[in-house]
Amino acid sequence: MTRTLTLTRPDDFHLHLRDGAMLQGIAPETARDFARAIIMPNLVPPVVTGAQAGAYRERIMAALPGSGFTPLMTLYLTEASDAADIIAAHRAGLITAVKLYPAGATTNSGSGVSSFENVRATLEAMAEAGVPLCVHGEVTDPAVDIFDREAVFIDRVLDPIRRATPGLTVIMEHVTTADAVAYVQSATTGLGATITTHHLIINRNHLLVGGIRPHYYCLPVAKRESHRLALLGAAVSGDRRFFLGTDSAPHTDEAKECACGCAGCFTATNTMPLLAEVFERENALDRLEGFVAHHGADFYGLKRNTGTLTLTRQDQPVTFPARIETGAGPVTVFDPGFAVHWQVSRAG
Ligand code: DOR
Ligand code: ZN
Repeated sequence: MTRTLTLTRPDDFHLHLRDGAMLQGIAPETARDFARAIIMPNLVPPVVTGAQAGAYRERIMAALPGSGFTPLMTLYLTEASDAADIIAAHRAGLITAVKLYPAGATTNSGSGVSSFENVRATLEAMAEAGVPLCVHGEVTDPAVDIFDREAVFIDRVLDPIRRATPGLTVIMEHVTTADAVAYVQSATTGLGATITTHHLIINRNHLLVGGIRPHYYCLPVAKRESHRLALLGAAVSGDRRFFLGTDSAPHTDEAKECACGCAGCFTATNTMPLLAEVFERENALDRLEGFVAHHGADFYGLKRNTGTLTLTRQDQPVTFPARIETGAGPVTVFDPGFAVHWQVSRAG
């Protein structure tokens, strides 16, 4: 039996597109299925000013000739960020949000924030001007176990920031724990969360049992199964505070498969089929459209997309390319480790 599912064209509220040859190679993988994406600013050097965001947006558009894709740009928050520049860029429609990386938390986060006191005035100005803050929610204290870093961040950093700046709209990015799900559920206003495709599929056993799997290594690192189930519950619940942000983060195979492999799962190529499979297993296909196309747009105050995406269920498992060849080197596509029956049949 063939089944089709037509959804409002989805958006990805957390995406790494990189630059140069990597950008050229991987941008079409997202633009094929998604109308818009929030573009992470952790380039080397980072995207800090409105002018840099404008130039990066041009490079992204140039990599996608003839596509209707809209990159929603972000600025990388540093302790030296210029609040006036941030607000002007937001007013001009150049940026959609600002990204907070605790210094040292992840890839190219060296210019991030060490002392949250030093960004307090900027966050207040953003709250006043209605500029949302996307947060990488992990502490970097070496004394805190890597599996606890998200939960500790909520208590030590995120909750104090939200109490000190109550008008600030915050998106807790790529939540990985039941603690984060509960924290977002406890907030009445101004707090949303993105959930990645891969954190709905893997737990830490996938990463470590039977050998280290570098293509399952990302940050925040996948947690135990009970946490994955909490994420899955939030994603299929219909709760409008939770929406898709893939955190699709390409690194070349050479950079992943080595003694100190980079963090990041590359899911841009097969995210929509994987999510259809996951939601179907939960008997929640009717909730998929909200998660991928409505909740995030509504949270950010963006118009919902007018186009559609149609997925078709095949009787036999479908296959995806194992890797994408880019001018920077091959990038392995995320393998869910189970059979997938859905494929995108039409984008309109
Ligand atoms: O796994 C990750 N990869 N997590 C991040 O926060 C950054 C990203 C990247 O840029 O590679
Ligand atoms: Zn990311």
